[in-house]
Amino acid sequence: MFEESILVEKSLPLNGEVNLSGAKNAVLVIMTSLLLTSGKSILRNIPASEDVFCMIELLQKLGVEVNFDIINKTLYADTSHINNFKIDSTIMKRMRASVLALGPLLARFGYASLAMPGGCSIGTRPINFHLTNFKKMGVEFSQDGEYLVGKVNKLNAKKLILEYPSVGATENIVMAATLTMGKTTIINAALEPEVLDLIDILKKMGANISILAPATIEIEGVQTLSPVDHFVMCDRLEAGSLLLAAAISGGDIYIPNAQANYLDVFLLKLEDMGHTIITQENIPGIRLIATNKPQAVSFKTMPYPGFPTDLQAPMMAALALAEGVSEIEETVYENRFLHAAELNKMGANIQINGTKALVTGVKELNGMSVNATDIRASCALVIAGLVASGQTTIKNIHHFKRGYDELDKKLNSVGAKVTVNNYPSIPHVVSSYGQKEI
Ligand code: UD1
Repeated sequence: MFEESILVEKSLPLNGEVNLSGAKNAVLVIMTSLLLTSGKSILRNIPASEDVFCMIELLQKLGVEVNFDIINKTLYADTSHINNFKIDSTIMKRMRASVLALGPLLARFGYASLAMPGGCSIGTRPINFHLTNFKKMGVEFSQDGEYLVGKVNKLNAKKLILEYPSVGATENIVMAATLTMGKTTIINAALEPEVLDLIDILKKMGANISILAPATIEIEGVQTLSPVDHFVMCDRLEAGSLLLAAAISGGDIYIPNAQANYLDVFLLKLEDMGHTIITQENIPGIRLIATNKPQAVSFKTMPYPGFPTDLQAPMMAALALAEGVSEIEETVYENRFLHAAELNKMGANIQINGTKALVTGVKELNGMSVNATDIRASCALVIAGLVASGQTTIKNIHHFKRGYDELDKKLNSVGAKVTVNNYPSIPHVVSSYGQKEI
C-alpha cells in the first residue's frame, strides 16, 4: 500500500515573506463555542487542517449545519437544529479537542456524552480537571459502555480552583459558565492567547467575562448567547515554526501577521542563540535574520507566557546544530521527547533523562527515513530535514496534516523543497448542504 510521506531536501537559506494561517488551537475551541448559540455564525481565517475537518464532522453529527469555504478560509455554521448530544467516539479518539464540546452541550442542553479522548501520543493527558469542575457545578456523570454520560438540570455558579492552568479545562469551564446564572470564578486559569480569543468571541456573543490579576477569570452568567461573525487569531505556533525553519537554514524571513507579544520568551531564546529579531511595538510583524554561528541555549516549557511546549520539538531541531550543550526541560507533558530519537537517527546528539533533554550541538544532520510521533514532532523533523544532507523522508504524516494548513507550501514559497506526497489524501465533505469542496 502506498504510504504517505513528506520528502524534505536540503535547502538553501530561506528568504522572504510568509503569512500565517488561523490558529489551530484557537479555532477548534471557537468552533465548539458556537454550540452555545442558536443560529447562523461566521468564522473567518479558518485553517484547512485535518483537525478542523474533524471538528466539522463532530459538529455535523450533533446536527450543526456547516459550510466551509476553503478558498476564502471562511466557515458558516447554523446551530439552530442541534438534535444529538453524543460526541462521537471515533472522532473523540482522533482528536482530544473534541472534549471541548462537553461544556457548551452541558450548558445549553444539560446533557452530553463522550468517549475518552485521543489525540497525540504525548503522555496520558487525562481530563480529570474538566470532569471534577463540572461535577462541582452540579453535573452527574455515569458510565454507559465506552461513553461517559453527563447530566444536569441547572448548572451552579461556583468558585473553582484549577491545580494546574490547563488550557482545555479553562476553556471548557468558561464556555459552560457563560450560560450559568450567577458568578463563576476560575482561579489559576490558563491565559494563553487562544483562551483570550475564545473569551473575545464569547463576549461578542453577549457573555459577561472579566480577567483579573494574576490569573482569574470571572464569568457572570447570561440567559442566552447570540450568533457571531469572528476573525480567528493567527497561529503563533506556526509563526514560531517558520522562524525556526529560517533560523536553522541561515535565512532571513519576515512574517507580517505574527504577533511578537505572544512569543516573548521564545523570541528571547532565539536572540540568545545569536539570531537577530526585529519587531515594532504594537504593530504585528516579526523578522528573523539568522546567525551563521548559532549558540546553545537552555529553557523549560511553561504555561503562557512561558516557553510554549508546542515549540519545544521544533526548537530542539534547531538546537541540534547549535554550538555547545542546551538543556531542555519539559514541564507541561510527561512524555514529549519522542522526536529526540528520530533526530538522533539523523545524527543529532540528544540524551533524555526523565523530563530533561541534553542537546549537544553537532556539525551536520543526515537525511533519512524518520517517523513523526505527534503534530509538533512532525514539524521539528521537517525543520531538521531542511539542513540535513540529501533527502529526509518523514512517515506518519497525518500528524502534520492535523496541525498545519499548507505549511509545506509556505516553506517552499521562501525557498524550501518540501513535498507532501498524496496531499491532501481524503476528500472531505465539508458542507451540510450536500456539496463537496476541496
Ligand atoms: C492545549 C493545546 C496543546 C498544547 C497544550 C498546552 C489545544 C487544542 N491544544 O492542549 O496544543 O500543547 O494546550 O499548551 O488547544 N491535564 C491533566 N488533567 C486535565 C487536563 C490536563 O492532568 O484534566 C494535564 C495534561 O495531561 C498536560 C497538562 O495538564 O500534561 C496541560 O494540558 P492542557 O493545558 O489541558 O492542554 P490541552 O488543553 O489538552
